[in-house]
Amino acid sequence: MTDRQEVAGNKTMVNVVLPSHILSRIPQLQPGQVALVGAGPGDPGLLTLNALMLIQQADVLVCDRLVSDEIAALKPAKAELINAGKSCKEHVLTQQETNEVLVKKAKEGKRVVRLKGGDPYIFGRGGEEVEFLMDYQIESIVVPGITAASGCSAYAGFPLTHRDFAQSVTFATGHIKHDGKLELDWSALASDDRTVVFYMGLNNAQLICDNLQAQGRSADTPVGLIERGTTLQQRTVFTTLSQLPQAIKDNGLKPPTMMVVGEVVSIAQKNEKKAAQNAEQRNEKSALAQA
Ligand SMILES: C[S@@+](CC[C@H](N)C(=O)[O-])C[C@H]1O[C@@H](n2cnc3c(N)ncnc32)[C@H](O)[C@@H]1O
Repeated sequence: MTDRQEVAGNKTMVNVVLPSHILSRIPQLQPGQVALVGAGPGDPGLLTLNALMLIQQADVLVCDRLVSDEIAALKPAKAELINAGKSCKEHVLTQQETNEVLVKKAKEGKRVVRLKGGDPYIFGRGGEEVEFLMDYQIESIVVPGITAASGCSAYAGFPLTHRDFAQSVTFATGHIKHDGKLELDWSALASDDRTVVFYMGLNNAQLICDNLQAQGRSADTPVGLIERGTTLQQRTVFTTLSQLPQAIKDNGLKPPTMMVVGEVVSIAQKNEKKAAQNAEQRNEKSALAQA
């Protein structure tokens, strides 16, 4: 898989050469086709191979706000970049306009890559875009990405499931279309052996905190808040369910932030302590060896 490794500074540089049986399976984007591609949660290293190879085939790249500039910069120099980014209330393009741009560019015979943060089919409107393209007989392919829940939990140091603490994990939206009332199956989400990950949950933190506790989830349930997870700007805040709204305020957390509720979150702090103890023991051993 690799043809050469060289050491530059203290970094090992690996030049990757893909064997032909893998290369032959990389999707080839045809003129007039659209690829909906998951870009992962932010760290460019979390792009899939297919995502990278498709970005490099694009004539037009239509990007979400959650896609970082460094990932968008992987496009061919001559490819057109369209920013369809949206933050909570401010849309550069509306969803309808984005759908129309995809159709228009495909009809012009362009190879279109629609790049979305995380996974296109998890709270990413990928389903709506594929349906729209089908209505206009535009062929599309979908490349899954690492969703923010997986990226953020791993980079914050805890798993989403664990045989001792969480037998299931639920991905829930914390925000309803047109700012509608958030109505979830709170009693199911309140069960102790379940991890609940809230996407877009910041504005409804009080409601989430109240409803889960009203259905019996303990006030002490650990909560992890991960802002801009997997990026160089990642911030992680650990709190409890009853303290959740205050922790968001105190730390001035802004979107994109992932909210993870469940016992698994406590593993991060336990592991951090263990890692510090292990490092101390290693240092003591090496000091003794040198003495
Ligand atoms: C519209 S959803 C898009 C989710 C995306 N399709 C995915 O699979 O990750 C946007 C929400 O995902 C979460 N999110 C996405 N990227 C994130 C990141 N890097 N760090 C923290 N949360 C993130 C936040 O809750 C944000 O409000």
